[in-house]
Amino acid sequence: MFICHVALQGCLTLTDVPYGITADTGGHIKYLLELAEASADDPRVERIDLVTRGFHDDTIGAQFAPGHGEARGKIRVIRLGDDDPGYLPKEGLFEQHGALCDAFQEYLDGLERRPDLVHAHYADAGVLARHAKQTLAIPYIFTGHSLGAVKRQANGKTDRSLDRRIEVEEAALETADAVIASSRDEAEAQYAHYTSIDAGRIRIIPPGCDLSRFEGAEPSRKVKADVERFLRDPDKPIILAIARPVFKKNLLGLVEAYAADKSLQDIANLVIVAGCRKRLSDLEPECRDVCEELIRAVDAHDLYGKVAYPKSHEPEDIPAYYALARESGGVFVNPALNEPFGLTLLEAAAARLPVVATDSGGPNDIIERCQNGVLVCPKDPLKIAEACRKIIVNRRDWVRFASAGKDAVAAYDWVAHRGIYHQLIVDLTTFRSPAPEWKRLLVCDIDNTLLGDREALREFLDWQQKNAGEVALGIATGRSFHSAQSILAAEGVSNPDFIISSVGTCIHWYDRDARCFVEDGSWTSRMTAGWEADKIARIASDLGLRSQAALEQRPGKASFFLDNRTADELDAQFRSAGADVQIVTSHGRYLDILPRGIGKDAAVMHVADRLGLTQARIVVAGDSGNDRAMLRACPHPIVVGNWSDGLGKDPALSHAYIASASHAAGILEGLRHYQEAGNW
Ligand code: GLC
Ligand code: MG
Repeated sequence: MFICHVALQGCLTLTDVPYGITADTGGHIKYLLELAEASADDPRVERIDLVTRGFHDDTIGAQFAPGHGEARGKIRVIRLGDDDPGYLPKEGLFEQHGALCDAFQEYLDGLERRPDLVHAHYADAGVLARHAKQTLAIPYIFTGHSLGAVKRQANGKTDRSLDRRIEVEEAALETADAVIASSRDEAEAQYAHYTSIDAGRIRIIPPGCDLSRFEGAEPSRKVKADVERFLRDPDKPIILAIARPVFKKNLLGLVEAYAADKSLQDIANLVIVAGCRKRLSDLEPECRDVCEELIRAVDAHDLYGKVAYPKSHEPEDIPAYYALARESGGVFVNPALNEPFGLTLLEAAAARLPVVATDSGGPNDIIERCQNGVLVCPKDPLKIAEACRKIIVNRRDWVRFASAGKDAVAAYDWVAHRGIYHQLIVDLTTFRSPAPEWKRLLVCDIDNTLLGDREALREFLDWQQKNAGEVALGIATGRSFHSAQSILAAEGVSNPDFIISSVGTCIHWYDRDARCFVEDGSWTSRMTAGWEADKIARIASDLGLRSQAALEQRPGKASFFLDNRTADELDAQFRSAGADVQIVTSHGRYLDILPRGIGKDAAVMHVADRLGLTQARIVVAGDSGNDRAMLRACPHPIVVGNWSDGLGKDPALSHAYIASASHAAGILEGLRHYQEAGNW
């Protein structure tokens, strides 16, 4: 593999990057260098070129000049020249796109061997990647890192440079072979602002994070002393927040939450680590305003002796803060109005500290994946306080959340990232033979069915590979398409032939020519035809149903928590309110409301129809309530041994094979049963 990264912004170099020297010398460079290092460690990778923009600037350094190269191991840096000799911030790069494309072309023409793939970072690198695809047919991956449309939405105003950036992003997205997003929020909510990208080409691959500093963290005497100056009773559990003092981090919301809950104040202290300051007046205006607000709120609510807001800290104090909060039996809170990724939640997880996090943005993925805490609406102070109080009081939950942290470290490291990333590159660059005439169809649920036992999964995948010429493998899950795809990739399951997602409301087919998933438009139109979103929302709110996170709400799927209600009772209530819907409950906890006639069952029939397979050719496997309809509807269902929601005792599933083995081993057991009986 020869991978060519293009990242034009900022000051990119292999050693001692001067982070912060310009506004664009930041996170994306760190990401790229760490990715390149990890990528180079894979023996399949022969060469990695990092193409950036060169410039002359004596104050920054001579090593950034155009033509000045660098090399380390398999990694090389190439600096392109354009018509402007000096350093340019990203807003100034537009004028140079033409010249940079020419320089990039010249570099490519000069290579003895073309890269297998170009990977563009940030909008303007996308221009070069698109150019190389058009002239030399080199496929490319695009990583946005930060999106113009999201920025425009956040600050409510626009300017010419943001408009241009969005146009450039649209063009880069339009011809990209794949787009990498770091979270579901980015994949599903942020890219929804763009018209030229379809969901099937977006892949969530969480960035790697080096969490080793946090894993063995212990409280330090210094950090203890820094908070003890503020607190009357420093031995109480600590509610900890660590964030830059900027409005969107919503630290004031956290103080208000704490102030509003007297019983929380009785049992816990609040510690806010918000950057460093000498004098408030020296801070940037936004940071100063936020700090002043915090101090004013402490005063207004008379929280003296209960809230600590240390003036400054050293980088090595941060792990110690997490550890101090852990030792106190406390929680970490990230109350941001929107958090693109949520690195602090992983740091807390690595330090074994439970978290309460905003339900807006990346934290959704982290909590879903690591189960190390709970999500709350950042605009609801009472809920924030309640969530903290519950975790602190209920030691069982505390211990469960704290010990879940070790999974975070493994799930978010660069080696894991590299594995998924290189598989994507292999998928994009190697020929896969056209789909065969399938004779049979196997459809599996993901959570607690296909996944849950890694060893059994490996055996299942061996079986699947041997049978791939005859048996189409499909997924039917309650997860969204992106969430399904990312967990499958993380567990080493290669692209299935189709994915039925969001409890049957969405179908994507893997297109072997296009090398990506493509949405089944006919299913989508059928599904949305009778869907009355507003009416359902109104009834749900009248019934006082508690909503799942915003990302779980999709056209054709309104999702809530069951909270001790029953499906029959809800069915009657929706019916009498005049809504013709289908009620699906799972794990005694989840409630999905779907259009009548839509679900995993109908979706499997639709897929079989398109493949020209009769019902007798289908085997489906599942474990819980949202699999029930699909299991009932198929003549050859497998209920895995670890079933829940009464599936194993359901009279309407008397025809099912109830496996004694769990998870993927249960699927294999069921397949053997149907094959031996000769009826599949
Ligand atoms: C998945 C979905 C959730 C749904 C549940 C049960 O967890 O994310 O929205 O309610 O499955 O179908
Ligand atoms: Mg399941």
